[in-house]
Amino acid sequence: MEVKSNNITVERTKRSKIDQVDFDNLSFGSVFADHMLVCDYKNGEWGAPSVVPYQPIELEPSAKIFHYGQSIFEGMKAYKDDQGGVWLFRPEENQKRLNISAKRLAMPELPKEIFMEGLATLLQVDQEWIPQTKGSSLYIRPFMFASGNGFHASPADAYKFIIACAPSGPYFSGKVKVLIEERYSRAANGGVGFAKAGGNYAAQFYPTQLAVQKGYNQVIWTDDNTHEYIEEAGAMNIFVRINDTLITAPTNDRILDGITRKSILDIAADEGIETEVRKITVAEVINAAKDGSLKEMFGAGTAAVVSPISAFGYKEVDYNLPELDQSYAALLKKRITDIQYNRGDDKFGWRY
Ligand code: COI
Repeated sequence: MEVKSNNITVERTKRSKIDQVDFDNLSFGSVFADHMLVCDYKNGEWGAPSVVPYQPIELEPSAKIFHYGQSIFEGMKAYKDDQGGVWLFRPEENQKRLNISAKRLAMPELPKEIFMEGLATLLQVDQEWIPQTKGSSLYIRPFMFASGNGFHASPADAYKFIIACAPSGPYFSGKVKVLIEERYSRAANGGVGFAKAGGNYAAQFYPTQLAVQKGYNQVIWTDDNTHEYIEEAGAMNIFVRINDTLITAPTNDRILDGITRKSILDIAADEGIETEVRKITVAEVINAAKDGSLKEMFGAGTAAVVSPISAFGYKEVDYNLPELDQSYAALLKKRITDIQYNRGDDKFGWRY
């Protein structure tokens, strides 16, 4: 057992799995790095974090995570540049958002130094797991859940914070075809849509299965009240380009304050692209598709980065988006990934 200068203990695996991984053919989030960071909360305080071999977690059947779903997570990536340097992208934004989610789910906030120093120590130990192959990265999944026991429907008295990592390739291969949702919702006013609560994603699975049965890849979420406004794309924020203006919905109770979303808005403005953060109606998108002013739609998120939409369905009609030589999606994806992989100027100071 080693003790690092920040008092984080490190127990290294005796049997690394790295030789079994084909780094040239990585899928998304399906093989896991050798180590994980673990930190426990009990008796009203967080204990000392440690890096240990990636392994199963022992929980009692009465652990509240199983019954009341107190579970939140973040999505981040570590990038390796051509010289072997390792970079994160705006990690403090993830740290802050984890605590925003924790507060909403009545979970304890995690001290910033546990998140940041725990992450740094884990990445030092597992740095060989950060892929250098094009389009790949180490997907980092910090998460926290109720490990305390009891059937009483109230917040648990114990929690676990873990960071596990998966060397990953692209989330989607190619463009996606989406269905604008008319019946189901992922979030409601006063609810937890803005938090990265595990249940928000579970709630998407059934409507998405129905859309997949109809031949679509993903659902475009509309507002829960009227289903007249476009809000998110699958597990991502959404952008719509009408003529030369790039539009995204404003964040609110129902919409995640995506780090990729806000970075795209800043990069687009820097490129001289006109941006609007405002409500987008389904009717506006349909009319724009009909009169040819709808140029692009894309999702934006950490996992998928920028994910162009090739077509959308609404009320049994499909609408195709044009193939553009110079799309905003391609331009913005290049700008953001050049920053992430240390290939270009970082004028916003986002690399870490
Ligand atoms: C991410 O983009 O990192 C997310 O959290 C979405 C996830 C469901 C893959």
